Amino acid sequence: MTGKPSSLETARQRIAAAYSPDLFGTLAGQLASTLTDHFSRVESNSGPVLNWTPPTDNIAAAESWLDRSPAADAGVPQPEELQQQFARCLETMLARGNNLHSPRYLGHQVPASVPLAALFDLIGSATNQVMAIYEMGPWATAVERAVVERVGTQLGLPAGNFAGLITHGGSLANLTALLTARNVALGDAWEAGFPQEQPRPVLVAHSDAHYCITRAAGVLGLGTRQVIPAPLDDRRRMDPAKLDELLADLRGQGRQVVAVSACACATPIGAFDPLNDIADVCEKHDVWMHVDAAHGGAAGFSEQHRHLLDGLARADSFICDAHKMMFVPALCAFVFYRNPVHRFETFRQDAPYLFDPSAPGLADYDSGLTTVECTKRAAAYGLWGLWSLFGPRLFADMVDVTFELGRQLYNRLVDAPDFEPLHAPECNIVVFRHIPEELRDAAAATIGEFNRRIRRELIESGEFYIVQTNIDGVGALRVTLINPLTEEQHLDRLLGSIRRIGSRLLEG
Ligand SMILES: Cc1ncc(COP(=O)(O)O)c(C=O)c1O
Repeated sequence: MTGKPSSLETARQRIAAAYSPDLFGTLAGQLASTLTDHFSRVESNSGPVLNWTPPTDNIAAAESWLDRSPAADAGVPQPEELQQQFARCLETMLARGNNLHSPRYLGHQVPASVPLAALFDLIGSATNQVMAIYEMGPWATAVERAVVERVGTQLGLPAGNFAGLITHGGSLANLTALLTARNVALGDAWEAGFPQEQPRPVLVAHSDAHYCITRAAGVLGLGTRQVIPAPLDDRRRMDPAKLDELLADLRGQGRQVVAVSACACATPIGAFDPLNDIADVCEKHDVWMHVDAAHGGAAGFSEQHRHLLDGLARADSFICDAHKMMFVPALCAFVFYRNPVHRFETFRQDAPYLFDPSAPGLADYDSGLTTVECTKRAAAYGLWGLWSLFGPRLFADMVDVTFELGRQLYNRLVDAPDFEPLHAPECNIVVFRHIPEELRDAAAATIGEFNRRIRRELIESGEFYIVQTNIDGVGALRVTLINPLTEEQHLDRLLGSIRRIGSRLLEG
């Protein structure tokens, strides 16, 4: 409801207030000082991690703010009123969020991002630098090209001889790469659609693949039932020998394989696939190899952990999320193609009003030719800015420190008789269960349920933020050490808090 129409003059005054550089400067200063206090408090470990409020309460609160604008009476708000309102909004937003920068945030694969990166992102959004065509975002395009080249070579691709792009998230990155694979494997499927006759083409995917892989199969028209899970070894890594058998079997059945989708690493326990062996099998069967390195790709920056990615550069395509282990704010996800020509196989389409035939060479710099997005935010600003300030060493530091935290937590679990680690961690993901003496002989389902209840109490208390998962159908606790400010003392405290909640639940 906007009430009765404003006069054009009032409308212009209100617009002028909204665009006022002075007001922008004042509010930006306010923002800087409030966020400085926020990070000082949160990073130094005070206050809750998650500010838990039930969703309906939060939605009602958010909606109530929409009726509180100082301009609600159809007038032109004064700068002081806007300043006060901005301060109140800011306070509410920070008080109701999840504090990823707390060292007790050990949650999903979303990092305590480096706040400085957000300053570069802010430049992009404040000046609305977007891409699709080079002219609209010349610097955004240049920045993207520069980081694609550097990250790609860091992950083993030959300098100047591959293609890459940035898109809005790992799910979209996997979808983009698998669409390319589908188009290459199935000839004219992009233009003609799928032939109705059997047998249907399949996608072979890691059994623990992130759900976006199956979702991609649905979106691509392959059908989610045509995703064939690749068998795993006892460390939940794709088993190359069994993959070889599976591909031979599928060939025998006359089923075309669009791609093999491997993981570096897989989400549940952070297992890295043996990529060189998988590449041998894919080459033997002449099948497109894709690797979802959304989480683990950043290991390529670390001298100590880079070996986990041996063979990655042999994949036809792979993805890596900078908004995971490169610690930039969401979203900034890379897609890489080993063969640069493949970037034009994704969307065999042109939009003449966008891509200027009078300057054909320039079209190669029009990002919209290779991404799902037409308008795309300058998603690489944060990463480029951080790299420009600290160099690539910072990304190696992040990997080294957080992977080491994973090992330190694992060592503690091994030493504690009332905890059961479910794997030796290869990175910063650690999955385990708390099994106190009283539950030692309990059914697996009971132990799983007990751990789930502990996690719910723990996160609602604001003391820690951790995740739950299912391993072999049984609930477990899952921690991602994805805040490099976490220290060993916080790991000790985590185990103490889990024990405390667990014994209270047992008493109850
Ligand atoms: C292995 C893997 N792939 C893909 C994704 C999805 O990435 P996004 O959340 O950026 O879409 C995730 C998310 O955690 C993941 O762990």
